[in-house]
Amino acid sequence: MRKIEVKKGIYWVGTIDWNLRYFHGYLTQKGTTYNAYLIIDEKITLVDTTKTWMADEMLKRISAIIDPAKIDYIVANHVEMDHSGGLVKMLEVAPNAKIVTCEKGRAGIERHFKKNWPYHIVKSGDVLNLGKRNLNFVLTPMVHWPDNMVAYMPEEKLLFSNDGFGQHIATIERFDDEYALGTIIEEAKKYYANIVLPYGIQVNAEIKAVSTLDIEMICPSHGIIWRSHVKEIIDKYQEWAGNKTKKKVIIVYDTMWNSTSKMADAIAEGFDEKEFEVKKCFLQSDHISDIMTDVIDAEYICLGTPILNRNILPNMSAFVTYLKGLEPKGRKYFVFGSYGWAPAGIDELAENIKKLGEVRGVYKMNYIPDESELVELKAKIKELI
Ligand code: FEO
Repeated sequence: MRKIEVKKGIYWVGTIDWNLRYFHGYLTQKGTTYNAYLIIDEKITLVDTTKTWMADEMLKRISAIIDPAKIDYIVANHVEMDHSGGLVKMLEVAPNAKIVTCEKGRAGIERHFKKNWPYHIVKSGDVLNLGKRNLNFVLTPMVHWPDNMVAYMPEEKLLFSNDGFGQHIATIERFDDEYALGTIIEEAKKYYANIVLPYGIQVNAEIKAVSTLDIEMICPSHGIIWRSHVKEIIDKYQEWAGNKTKKKVIIVYDTMWNSTSKMADAIAEGFDEKEFEVKKCFLQSDHISDIMTDVIDAEYICLGTPILNRNILPNMSAFVTYLKGLEPKGRKYFVFGSYGWAPAGIDELAENIKKLGEVRGVYKMNYIPDESELVELKAKIKELI
């Protein structure tokens, strides 16, 4: 197997999940990687592992470099199974290895695996000497689980950032100067929107902690390694965590007999005439995780659905459930839809959305809106934005 050296004596030994298309609700059109890194020093150290069923691929990469039995430390920066699933295999082949993690990491690993493994517990500020190089740990709770931490190697100016700064891209290219930068940034934005968005405060704390570090390379646990565009991705994280929106609206809707679709068109025209960037997202063809990427910088979110058996359509229910979990802060909403017998479901949707942000207007139209009603709708929208 080809050895992939990211810095002298530090190897990428992760796995490539070419076929992954679903990651707890997130559509991963480009697949992903689970990045693990092998540090050859006086203490041989593996940083993170992979999914349980992909551990053999990781082991093959490690075995091409050293005898895995020589591993002294396995750093578990995060318990989620895409990074810790390989622990079982690794502790079998490296029985002398200690798991380096924080207290919450140990608790999580014990609950997941029910094994009596040896640990080296670290907290923020702790340093682990590997010989010529050191790992400095910073706990970064909630980016993305309570146990998350990152490890910084000052001698190489290298940050093992775990979920932070990652992207879901399956590729044999490993570095940001080997792959289309626009695509990497877009995938990093989608990753942020779908994984990290609720934890903006914690991301800001992480950025503050790492801003004091001299970083030449960021090795995340998914996707491409940052070495030529480190500043760009840190700036982007600052922007996203800062919850900065622009003059942009996303109109997320489903339709039954095209009436709600007509309302969506009228609303889009209203925003367009007020010189907003307008994006229409049709729930029958746009995936909720792709829509979330557009939520990141949208000032307004409009939600449109007709009523079916007194309820909103299932596609809208799914989107709202997903949106509420990711809880974007400070967005403004309009809710709209067509109904036949009773409009109550649209009001219920508006009430539900009030828990997320300000609802500027609720518009309901019986059966098919006529031209004058659509003109009036557009005018109301223009008045309120
Ligand atoms: Fe990539 Fe939260 O695990």
